[in-house]
Amino acid sequence: MILVFGSINMDLVASVAAIPRPGETVLSRGYCTLFGGKGANQAVAAARVSEGRVAMVARVGRDSFGEACLANLKENGVATEHILAGDDPTGCAFITVDAAGENAITVASGANGAVSASDLPDALVGADTLLVMQMEVPLDASLATARRVKAAGGRTIWNFAPAIDLSAGELADVLTATDIFIVNEHEALTAAGLLGTSASDLEAAARTLAVEGRVTCVATAGAAGAIAYQPDGTRHHAPALDIRPVDTTGAGDTFVGILAAEIAAGSALTEALRLASIGASLACLKVGAQAGMPTRAELEQGRA
Ligand code: RIB
Repeated sequence: MILVFGSINMDLVASVAAIPRPGETVLSRGYCTLFGGKGANQAVAAARVSEGRVAMVARVGRDSFGEACLANLKENGVATEHILAGDDPTGCAFITVDAAGENAITVASGANGAVSASDLPDALVGADTLLVMQMEVPLDASLATARRVKAAGGRTIWNFAPAIDLSAGELADVLTATDIFIVNEHEALTAAGLLGTSASDLEAAARTLAVEGRVTCVATAGAAGAIAYQPDGTRHHAPALDIRPVDTTGAGDTFVGILAAEIAAGSALTEALRLASIGASLACLKVGAQAGMPTRAELEQGRA
């Protein structure tokens, strides 16, 4: 079973010619209200391509955004009975997307900030649990959950997104509780820096994280595809599709969800990497984090 322990947001997305700089105001013709949150996105990406159970432990507010987010997860085949509704408002992300498909995101955490390790029932913790986490809910809750799943013989995937400011000790705790650590270039350099290394590019940072952190480090590299380093330094690479991106929001989440689905299904790391790279490319072809996430058939054909 894939268990996503993480965030749910409603995304308010405005298309702009150029993302505003500090102090600048830009105009957009309008905005879209779309489903998002790194945890929810990863759960939906996994459920669209997986035959196994995908469940989420998370929190929303008792508001219309929360109701809509729960309905969306259910429609996508994600089990929602362990998502709690509380007094804080549902998380909300304010996203601007520029003409090249690049984005800038501000997340108002709301209910995500109340996610607690005790939200996870024992029934979901076992040797067949593949736990998927990100950095949009409290770190102590994710760490305690990861340790519980590891103690029960399960496996953990930790997506270091967004790359928040941790102490070196906190990062060491994260890596100890992680089997597969997934990063983009910025996240890889941030994490490698926290380890006190001088890695200055994605390759060096990913290798360092894998070898010194004793994890499998998977790094997404946009148009260059994705690489993976194993703790013994073995390297794998998978290319991206040759596409013209419309919106890169959610591409990393699609990658994580598909990689998790493949690992849970017993695929080799190289095959999981190959399919996750294709899926992340396809996800960039539509506006919004979840609209472009492929079905199993689309993933296998390599086109939407
Ligand atoms: O990774 C993309 C996601 O980041 C968006 O859906 C937004 O909600 C933020 O969490």
